[in-house]
Amino acid sequence: MTSPYARITGTGSHLPPRRLSNEDMVAMLAARGVETSDQWIVERTGIRARHFADDGVASSDLALHAARHALEAAGRSAADLDLIVVATSTPDMVFPSTASILQHKLGVHGCPAFDLQAVCSGFVYALVVADAMVRAGSARCALVVGAEVFSRILDFSDRTTCVLFGDGAGAVVLEASDTPGILASDLHADGRHLEILCTPGTVAGGKVSGQPLLKMDGPAVFKLAVGVLESSARAVLAKAGRSEADLDWLVPHQANIRIMQSTARKLKLPPEKLVCTVDEHGNTSAASVPLALDVAVRGGRIRRGDTVMLEGVGGGFTWGAVLLDY
Ligand code: ACO
Repeated sequence: MTSPYARITGTGSHLPPRRLSNEDMVAMLAARGVETSDQWIVERTGIRARHFADDGVASSDLALHAARHALEAAGRSAADLDLIVVATSTPDMVFPSTASILQHKLGVHGCPAFDLQAVCSGFVYALVVADAMVRAGSARCALVVGAEVFSRILDFSDRTTCVLFGDGAGAVVLEASDTPGILASDLHADGRHLEILCTPGTVAGGKVSGQPLLKMDGPAVFKLAVGVLESSARAVLAKAGRSEADLDWLVPHQANIRIMQSTARKLKLPPEKLVCTVDEHGNTSAASVPLALDVAVRGGRIRRGDTVMLEGVGGGFTWGAVLLDY
């Protein structure tokens, strides 16, 4: 039986316990002869702290905690799932997928499970794919996760990138529904910009080949991000037949407070409607949007019936937006 809509019925998230303040990063980098400061990081990005997973903790471990919280919030068990999608750029292994590993850790088997790679836009992409599968009748109860251990791919000799990222996971349960949930989506990629944000390494011939550490031209990413987040926001509102005034909450990718505030200003949204967790999480790539969503839901800000826009932007270059009634 198909249902006309897919709706988020529960959210969950997880941060590894090891928290590094900016001062902790200053000390850690100083030991390597790299200079930075709390003031620079806060003024340029809004980041005050990030969490790093301990050695041996993988994306699937963080995803497992987030998934359990989301299932509990939805009043579901893992046995109810008929689809698992994990957005990650830091998978546990080359293969099998982190989604298959997560399925196994959840103690279930049989339902389709796959990873989706769209870097920091990954969760928004994954939600769009799961929404389409639910509305097509291929699934009725989907788990959509964003999970990352970006600390593993950071170059700690490069102060322009290593202070920006953190580890974490966020998840939602998305279920078939007769009432609207996800209203519209807008996804894009432009491979011409792949070099401004990449981790250009791989495994070949039994060895790591290339540079498996994150590289970013921050100012170029900043400039592109500000433009595409506005255009995608307007596109998704138009597709849903809604206007900026209908928005209760904007939950953008948490990369930089200045990018988020600029998007909110362009949409004429008051600052209190912007969900911001970058200060405590840093940029957790595909995990950032579901982490921020869960923080706002559990904090009692986002409530049932609210209209919420999720936005992602990241390597690829990829970007997109989802508009939903929570
Ligand atoms: N500490 C101290 N000084 C620093 C640091 C640091 N950690 N990093 C850079 N600087 C210095 C630079 O060396 C430069 O010094 P100079 O003027 O003497 O040469 C100065 O600060 C300014 O550097 P810029 O790179 O121009 O700084 P900018 O204001 O552009 O901020 C930032 C950099 C924060 C990276 C910004 O460009 C940004 O947020 N970009 C977008 C990132 C983003 O949105 N990513 C999303 C996708 S992530 C993904 O998909 C994985």
